[in-house]
Formats: sequence, structure tokens, C-alpha cells
Amino acid sequence: MQKIGNSRPQLMPSGFYPFYVWQYCKTSQFHHTRYGTEPESGQVLYEHLNSQGNPKEARERLYVTSKVFHSLKHGISVKDAVNDALRRLRLDYLDLWLIHAPFLPESVDLKQVWRDMEKLVDDGTVRDIGVSNFRISDLDILLASANIKPVVNQIEANPYLQQPELKAYCDKKGILIEAYSPLAPLTSAPGGPLDPLLEELATRHQATPAQILLRWSLQSGYLPITTTRNEQRMHEFRAVAALPAHEFASGPSAPGQLALTKEEVDRISTVGSQMHVRKFWQKEFGHPGN
Ligand SMILES: NC(=O)c1ccc[n+]([C@@H]2O[C@H](COP(=O)([O-])OP(=O)(O)OC[C@H]3O[C@@H](n4cnc5c(N)ncnc54)[C@H](OP(=O)(O)O)[C@@H]3O)[C@@H](O)[C@H]2O)c1
Repeated sequence: MQKIGNSRPQLMPSGFYPFYVWQYCKTSQFHHTRYGTEPESGQVLYEHLNSQGNPKEARERLYVTSKVFHSLKHGISVKDAVNDALRRLRLDYLDLWLIHAPFLPESVDLKQVWRDMEKLVDDGTVRDIGVSNFRISDLDILLASANIKPVVNQIEANPYLQQPELKAYCDKKGILIEAYSPLAPLTSAPGGPLDPLLEELATRHQATPAQILLRWSLQSGYLPITTTRNEQRMHEFRAVAALPAHEFASGPSAPGQLALTKEEVDRISTVGSQMHVRKFWQKEFGHPGN
């Protein structure tokens, strides 16, 4: 086993596999059973893969994520939990398996859970492992004894919840931040200070405010994960990734080539930092500034 290394670092620059999953399944990622979407996702996956000339090759083009959390609270082993997920998803491996949150009972030994996750990489049950909602203190504990570094930390992040210290920590350690709720400024805090700027930039780049937010996320070094049941939005969201994340514009975007300038990214960050919004896990994160 490689000491502290991402198993598939080449995944990161493109990082848009979840978009492909959407295309076929019209759900966002594949979720932990708490969301209850694994069986229906499994059915859609099965139908999709078997409609392709070469199902094995088609499977390689998908990046399927699921998470473990409640099983751990109920004393179910990591191995049993992933096997249950695989059965429901009708797959023989997962691309990414996450610890959903560090908010586990004291009886659960996080280091042991991570060792069990690592074994799944070793035996090929999952290709990558990661964490979600981990703070710096949680990552410190995990990294102290990890052999395989988490590929991602999936956290709530958008201009109203930038978490610069956690972002800097993860950047330094080479852990990609997957940003969930990237559209919260539109969906949870309409009327907030960003609204006029998002409208201005959407007009300038002939895009929608949601696309501007996703592009901000990408160009700021996050990997946004969103979801929609609306087919038009699905196309809009996929178009955001037409240009690589590191590509900054020098003026208004050409059609279908959305990119923000460095100054625009910075303006969104500055205005966004005037407001704090957290939608999920509020009780666990406690202090409103967290
Ligand atoms: N790890 C965790 O603890 C955790 C917690 C929460 C979420 N997540 C993950 O993150 C994913 C995304 O989270 P999220 O749903 O909070 O993300 P989001 O991208 O902030 O919000 C998506 C929602 O916004 C709506 N929407 C999209 N465009 C819109 C627009 N232009 N105007 C108004 N509403 C719009 C969508 O509704 P329509 O369907 O109508 O387009 C959808 O319900 C989830 O599916 C889940 O996988 C993880």
C-alpha cells in the first residue's frame, strides 16, 4: 500500500464525473441509503449500462459515489455497509466511498473506520475513499494514522460559506474539496448581497446566475456538486465545465465558453463573505461562524 497518496489523482483536473451520472440518472450523486436513492439509482444504472455496446467500458466512464454514516452508528461494519450499497446500486465496485460526517458516537473509532475504508481500496471494492463534513481537527486525527489520504472532503461551500482555513488546509494536504450546496445563495438566501453582482455577471457572460456560481466554485478550486430535476438546468450546469477550471477569462465569455475573470472571482468572494449561510448540519457545527 502506498503511504499517503491519492489513488487516482488524475481524476481531479476534470472532476466532472458527477455530471455524467446526472445525465443518465437524473439524480445528483448516488447517495447513502438515508437519501433512499440507491435502489432507483441501481435500476437506472443497470438499464443504462446494459443499453451500451460494452457495459464494462460504459461503467468506466461513470464515477459513482456513496457514503457511510448511519450504518456505523448502528454497529454495521464498513465492509457490510459497502456491500449493501453495491447490492442496491447493482454494481461490483464504487468509485468513491465517503464517511458522510465525523459526527459519530464516541464508541466508533474513526481511525479504525478509516483503516477499514483503506482495506476496501486494497481489495478493489472501491477505487477512492474520502470524507465529508470533516473539520481541520477531524482531518488531523485521521491523517495522523492514515495510509491512504482522503481524495476529497465533501463540505458545504459557496460564496456565503467559503471556509478559507479549511480550504487552505485541504489544498496544502492535496485533498480536493467537493462543494455541496453551491447554489445556496440563490436557493437559501435570495435577496442577499450577492444577487445584484450575480445578475450583472450573468448578463455580461450571457449565462445564468446559477452558472456564475458554479463557475466561481470551479475557478476558486472547489469541485461543485449540485442537483436538479430540471432538464434545461442539467444542460446549463454541464456547460459550465466546457472550459477547464484553471481557465480565467480576460473579458466577456464567448458563447458556450463560460469563464470568469480573476477580478470577477475575487469580487464574488468579497461580496459573499459579507453573509454567512449554512443549510446542513447546523446543530453539529454549532457556532454560527463555523
Ligand atoms: N455530504 C453532505 O452532508 C451533503 C449535504 C447536503 C447535500 N449533499 C450533496 O450535495 C448535492 C447538492 O446539494 P444541494 O441540493 O444543497 O445543492 P445546490 O446546488 O445548492 O441546490 C440544488 C437545488 O437548487 C435548485 N436549483 C437549481 N438551480 C436553481 C435556480 N436557478 N433557481 C432556483 N433553484 C435552483 C434545484 O432544484 P431543481 O430540481 O428545481 O432544479 C435543487 O433542488 C446533493 O444532491 C447531495 O448529494 C451532501
